[in-house]
Amino acid sequence: MNIAELKKIAFSEIEKAKNPEDLEKARKTYLGRKGELTAVLRSLAERPAEEKIRVGKEANRLKSELEALFESKKTAFEKELLAAAAKKERIDITAPGKKVSRGSSHPLSRLRKEAEDIFGSLGFEIIEGPEVETEYYNFDALNIPAEHPAREMWDTFWLGKKFLMRTHTSPVQIRYMEKHNPPFRIIAPGRVFRHEATDASHEIQFNQLEGLMVGKDVSLADLKGILEQFLRRLMGEKIQIRFKPSYFPFVEPGVEVDMLWNGRWLEMLGAGMVHPNVLRAGGLNPNEWQGFAFGVGIDRLAMLKYKIDDIRLFYSGDLRFLRQF
Ligand code: DAH
Repeated sequence: MNIAELKKIAFSEIEKAKNPEDLEKARKTYLGRKGELTAVLRSLAERPAEEKIRVGKEANRLKSELEALFESKKTAFEKELLAAAAKKERIDITAPGKKVSRGSSHPLSRLRKEAEDIFGSLGFEIIEGPEVETEYYNFDALNIPAEHPAREMWDTFWLGKKFLMRTHTSPVQIRYMEKHNPPFRIIAPGRVFRHEATDASHEIQFNQLEGLMVGKDVSLADLKGILEQFLRRLMGEKIQIRFKPSYFPFVEPGVEVDMLWNGRWLEMLGAGMVHPNVLRAGGLNPNEWQGFAFGVGIDRLAMLKYKIDDIRLFYSGDLRFLRQF
């Protein structure tokens, strides 16, 4: 094959290449180590001197022409590829944004947070205790011995003989007193459990907020002031409260606290002065220290505040309910 022919075929093949792979194949055919043009250049040595110069010149010229052609074709393919990618990955800055759906706090979490903020501002520390308790912390240490009729007030889910789902947040009082020296003031919010039939105002689980303040001269008057502050800031400035004598094994005297709400007195929480036996169980000397404790239902407060008429809604996981908050 002479140079002119070779040039014709090579050019047409390069022009025909539809993609970088075809092009590379063509390059190898002509310019590769075993390529056609390379063979011509190699064969020069065997040719007569005059031909060597002429054919050598032509072959070298063709070589640089082919190289230039390959290069420009290659660049063209690269540009095409880039353009295609750019088209695919183009960011349309005028397109409307995708909506990120946002969750919201559960009404019980919201109420708990508000309560924590109020008590926090009154100097109370926020403490948590375990939901699975021992019989000792849930009952005995709170002055409720086995066989005591008061245990009937808190029927619960037992986990074997000694463990149970806590029926109230009061055991946190003992756990805290065991490890801390007075004076102190704490609240312990959290979930509690009762074994009972459910209805609009009863659930097998609900939330309480326990309070405990111990010092040298902490009194019922302090309790009243703190609870009044708490309920007014949470439920409204017009709130009034009143104490009624009541019985809880872990306090002496014990009171029930009513709140005036829309013209009606509602029973809101239990409270009292910490019983000497309970102080002792917590490792404190009742002749040296005294204090008050209270326990309030978070669900009940949330139901009143957010006008919810069925406690079971809190635990239903129904988004139609939750989205309203
Ligand atoms: N633990 C009681 C209950 O679950 C509530 C309670 C009453 C807590 C009086 C107290 C208290 O700390 O002093 O019914």
